[in-house]
Amino acid sequence: PEDVASELEKVLLSEEEIAAKLAEIARRIEADYEGRDLLLIAVLKGAVMVMADLARELKRPVEVDFMAVSSYGASTHSSGVVRIVKDLDISLEGRNVLIVEDIIDSGLTLHWLKQNLASRNPASIEVCALLRKPDAMKVDVDPRYVGFDIPNEFVVGYGLDYAERYRNLRSIAVLAPHVYS
Ligand code: PRP
Ligand code: MN
Ligand code: MG
Repeated sequence: PEDVASELEKVLLSEEEIAAKLAEIARRIEADYEGRDLLLIAVLKGAVMVMADLARELKRPVEVDFMAVSSYGASTHSSGVVRIVKDLDISLEGRNVLIVEDIIDSGLTLHWLKQNLASRNPASIEVCALLRKPDAMKVDVDPRYVGFDIPNEFVVGYGLDYAERYRNLRSIAVLAPHVYS
């Protein structure tokens, strides 16, 4: 098997740090949504780990649904122009929606998604992102819950990929420059 450790510069957030932060956020969500229904929506694929762990950390019933999106054009996801590959199965009419994401980088994906979902008449719509890169943000998506603000470095693991690799790492790490240069 390949030696993944040599492809990582350093661990930024350990499994334990991620779990502790998600527990903190879950307590806030439980308080904020007390007595109200809650629908968690995650965007494939990066958000799957956050969704799985946050949903199980919540000590209350929630519904979950998933969307798959892809970017138009030659550029990467940061174009901000998004096409729906797999839409939601659940109607948002009158629902309290919490979008669960792994990272806000430029913010363009979430900016588009929030507008798209808001047009479906939910009772409320908020964003929970485990990571945010303040120095990379092009549009503010005003997330209600943010786990960690991180430097503008290439991070992988816990759902986050580089060329579809490293998603299954339990921690979040900075990718070694020799991997992508
Ligand atoms: C990544 C990440 C976020 C988005 C953030 O997804 O999971 O969804 O980019 O970038 P932005 O703030 O600049 O829009 P990606 O498009 O790589 O797809 P993936 O989740 O399948 O990895
Ligand atoms: Mn993503
Ligand atoms: Mg990706």
